[in-house]
Amino acid sequence: MSAVNKKPETINEIILVTECEDGSPYIAPFGVRERDGLILIAPFRPSISLDNLLSGRRATINRTDDVRVFAGALTGRRNFPMQNKAGALVLESALAYKTLKLEKVEDDTQRPQLYFKVLKEETLKPFQGYNRAQAAVVELCVLVSRLNMLPIEKINSEIDYLRIAIEKTAGDKELEAWAWLVEAVENHRAQLSGANVA
Ligand SMILES: Cc1cc2nc3c(=O)[nH]c(=O)nc-3n(C[C@H](O)[C@H](O)[C@H](O)COP(=O)(O)O)c2cc1C
Repeated sequence: MSAVNKKPETINEIILVTECEDGSPYIAPFGVRERDGLILIAPFRPSISLDNLLSGRRATINRTDDVRVFAGALTGRRNFPMQNKAGALVLESALAYKTLKLEKVEDDTQRPQLYFKVLKEETLKPFQGYNRAQAAVVELCVLVSRLNMLPIEKINSEIDYLRIAIEKTAGDKELEAWAWLVEAVENHRAQLSGANVA
């Protein structure tokens, strides 16, 4: 089947918490999908999350509407409050979590596919409904995670569009996350213009 005809799979953007060798939690945003009753996570190499997944063989998926965690993980702010749920590392802000055990690895030099069995899932807080500013922050996170691959003109025009939702629907958390990301884009722009001057 060609890629064009392939049935689309829903991808949900979550915060993956893995455990480093010293036992400390490590957070990173990942898109996850369900395939054949398992959860599929596909990290590009190199990745600290991938290393932790392969050595510890377990992780926690966190569904959170605090988009500062997404923006923070991409801008060097990883110190978000955690809670311990029977040994599972869960964000304080999680609406729900799933604990995962690694079942199968399809290795690849660029992007291995890791399949996980869900051991436990729990809902902690109610979902408040869709918020456009949260979606806009997640979109800008994706752009920031690809700053070195995308033309700056595309990033600038996407920011102009996404800002509409921020101005109309953001609360304090979304504004803080947005500001961290915009700062990362500004630093990148400054680096580019510095490189041009040199
Ligand atoms: C919404 C969102 C989804 C992402 N999904 C993936 C993914 O599926 N695979 C991946 O390698 N990186 C993904 N990223 C980028 C990683 O979060 C980022 O590169 C991260 O730092 C992974 O590398 P690390 O494990 O070394 O921290 C995503 C980023 C965002 C904002």
